[in-house]
Amino acid sequence: MTLRFPDGFLWGAATSAYQIEGGAAEDGRGPSIWDTFSHTAGRVLDGDTGDVAADHYHRYGEDVELMRSIGLNAYRFSVSWPRVVPDGDGAVNQRGLDFYRRLVDRLGEAGIEPLLTLYHWDLPQALQDQGGWLRRHTAADFARYAEVVFEALHDRVAWWSTLNEPYVAAHLGHYAGIFAPGMTDVAAMMSAQHHLLLGHGLAVAAMRAIDPGPRHGIVLNLEIPIPVGDSPAVLDGVRRVEGLLDRSFTDPVLAGRYPGDVMADLAPARFPVKPGDLDLISTPLDWFGVNYYRQWFITEAGAGMPLTEFPGCDHVNATTVGYQTTDMGWPVTPQGLVEVLTWLDQRYPGHPPFIITENGAAYDDPVGDDGAIDDARRIDYLHRHLAALHGVIETGIEVGGYFVWSLLDNFEWASGYSKRFGIIRVDYDTLVRTPRNSAAWYAGVITANGLDQKGAEP
Ligand code: FCB
Repeated sequence: MTLRFPDGFLWGAATSAYQIEGGAAEDGRGPSIWDTFSHTAGRVLDGDTGDVAADHYHRYGEDVELMRSIGLNAYRFSVSWPRVVPDGDGAVNQRGLDFYRRLVDRLGEAGIEPLLTLYHWDLPQALQDQGGWLRRHTAADFARYAEVVFEALHDRVAWWSTLNEPYVAAHLGHYAGIFAPGMTDVAAMMSAQHHLLLGHGLAVAAMRAIDPGPRHGIVLNLEIPIPVGDSPAVLDGVRRVEGLLDRSFTDPVLAGRYPGDVMADLAPARFPVKPGDLDLISTPLDWFGVNYYRQWFITEAGAGMPLTEFPGCDHVNATTVGYQTTDMGWPVTPQGLVEVLTWLDQRYPGHPPFIITENGAAYDDPVGDDGAIDDARRIDYLHRHLAALHGVIETGIEVGGYFVWSLLDNFEWASGYSKRFGIIRVDYDTLVRTPRNSAAWYAGVITANGLDQKGAEP
């Protein structure tokens, strides 16, 4: 039996600028906080940097051909702010804009719909030097950069996303300290979070003032934590994780408020809200992006792993409760995708249609003697998540598309090149691309606009 997806469903793959482009010093690009971070000893595994990455800056034509050969009808990528406005708030670099125009035109020729993300974590270093996201004015700088990109591309890009995973930028970058800019302070985390969200609201308003036609969204990483047991400590941990990871982003964006319990937990640190901010942040959106990879299972401290990225969660740990894990150590939990979308649908009536903007798995299977790469575990992961998503759509929840993370192996942030998420393998010595078996499998799904039911069981 075939699980068929709605007509017009967007079938895509996703990437981000710093992770694939390389060309770090080319055509006037300025440095970003990820250049600084990756060039700082001890920050990224093996000292890897995005200087060359997958060299997409030079090979974008070949990459679009690969997308076409898989049959993708959509592609999600991000624009590098420091390529377009090298110092963040000053002169526009026309050569940087031209690169994205060439890319978008090539996608158009291939019949592939672009979904453009304005911020996938690569803040211009010059703005970081002025305080980065701790400074309110960075939100205004972001809106101005959004206007520049929108002016250049609104005639050919219909789908726009402001931020990718502001949770990760704010929390991993400013509290856990494991991502750029590497801070470890709750108040900094809260300032960064609020100013990122304010930047989202200001940018959407600025772009709509130029042309109301294109469709605007935001992309959040959401995972509903599950209690293991029902002790008060575990239930409190679940509430806190859900508050920090989910509600403190979804409530401001979809309901115009920050959750009271999160604010109480984090006091005396506070979100630096000014009058009118939450109205801007909760401006109605045309679509809402969800990145989904794994679920969190919360257990008593003493078992599992510490929840180091969540402030106030020392009394609980995370566990994978026996689920298979990917090379990231993340449990494979397709049912969690159902939980996220159902939770959103129930909590925010009238929400915009959803798009799954990232979903995928890191597995490094060897290249076989025949040159093929048998990544059966990735196919199984994707198959089970798509089957779960199909079930959600059947319940009447509107989902407009699905993007595999990732098109290509790439710079996986603090893990450098050690984790491979691509449906296409990249040889980092030669930069040769080799589609894995999952690419052909995905091509079949797209052609059928559906998949067989095998593997639907969790
Ligand atoms: C997400 C990021 C993406 C990639 C995947 C594995 O959090 O948006 O850039 O790193 O995780």
